[in-house]
Amino acid sequence: MANSMKAVSIPEFGAAEVLRLGDVPVPEPGPGEVSIDVAYAGANFAEILYRQGVVDVALPFVPGIEVSGRIRALGAGVGGFQVGEPVAALTIVDSGGYAEVVTANAALVAPLGEAGFEVGAALPSNSTTAFLVLERVARLARGESVLVHAAAGGVGSQLGQVARLLGAGRVVGTVGSAAKIPAAKAFGYDEVVLRDEVDGTGEFDVVVDMVGGPSRRASLDRLAPMGRLVVMGNASGAEDVGIPANELWFTNKTVSGFNLAAFSAVAPGEVGRALRRAVQAVADGELRVEVEALGLDQAVDAHRRIESGSTTGKLVLRVR
Ligand SMILES: NC(=O)c1ccc[n+]([C@@H]2O[C@H](COP(=O)([O-])OP(=O)(O)OC[C@H]3O[C@@H](n4cnc5c(N)ncnc54)[C@H](OP(=O)(O)O)[C@@H]3O)[C@@H](O)[C@H]2O)c1
Repeated sequence: MANSMKAVSIPEFGAAEVLRLGDVPVPEPGPGEVSIDVAYAGANFAEILYRQGVVDVALPFVPGIEVSGRIRALGAGVGGFQVGEPVAALTIVDSGGYAEVVTANAALVAPLGEAGFEVGAALPSNSTTAFLVLERVARLARGESVLVHAAAGGVGSQLGQVARLLGAGRVVGTVGSAAKIPAAKAFGYDEVVLRDEVDGTGEFDVVVDMVGGPSRRASLDRLAPMGRLVVMGNASGAEDVGIPANELWFTNKTVSGFNLAAFSAVAPGEVGRALRRAVQAVADGELRVEVEALGLDQAVDAHRRIESGSTTGKLVLRVR
């Protein structure tokens, strides 16, 4: 097998243009890992943060937190997979997905079954996150109401649908512009409102905020007594917002955080189970992922589009 491969690297922190398609060594799976011949790599907001240096990583760095592809080789101690088997994988702990070959903890790899490679690269991060956030973090109960920000986006499009699958009552989404309302509605939200108008939407048992800034305060204000706010991102790039602890005490509200990368590092078994469930939900047609594929050589374009906040659904990069 060739010992070099094509990959998109971050040679220095900066704007989308720093991304470079070039040759790097092929990684070999360590104990407990598999290597994967990548078919598609998901393109996420998370990789923007790596590229900007918001997440400090050693350079050069190959980004990419999720892939689909075929098992290439099994590391020591790994069973349960066949070479050539189609899989979806979270490569979120060490990244490396924008490449022809990547390694992953075998616990974070799921048989792809009938789901297909394109969608298989689009679901590991966002759909798995949606199950973990709503079930494990927010402890959503049947009939409870849910508010989700950036509802037409990658993770937003999954949160609304998963809330529904878990038996939620009223499910409302917010978007940043009127043009995104139809896209968010198509993901099954009962109502979709402009984020500026969220004050008029009433109270919710669960609010999921990945936008930050003014959205953080507005989210807290929308919580019903015993409501739970899950903080899981800061897409607005705003300064961090202090959470008023005494206010939580006086109003019976809860604030929790979720980070898939950090949780995957400490609880790969649990994350892997959620990933398998997400793959199954997509394969069964219970969960819809809207995917647009670009070439690996269009990674710069993908980053520009994600950064501009103009995308709906999910972009993936076609590797081979
Ligand atoms: N904690 C975790 O484990 C986890 C997992 C997955 C995703 N996330 C986070 O969730 C967020 C969305 O990720 P994604 O992959 O789903 O990306 P995405 O589809 O690109 O969603 C980002 C959305 O955020 C909104 N936004 C608000 N202010 C923005 C700004 N200044 N620049 C760009 N976008 C802005 C936009 O929606 P509107 O037009 O509706 O405002 C945009 O479409 C990110 O913050 C990401 O880090 C966290």
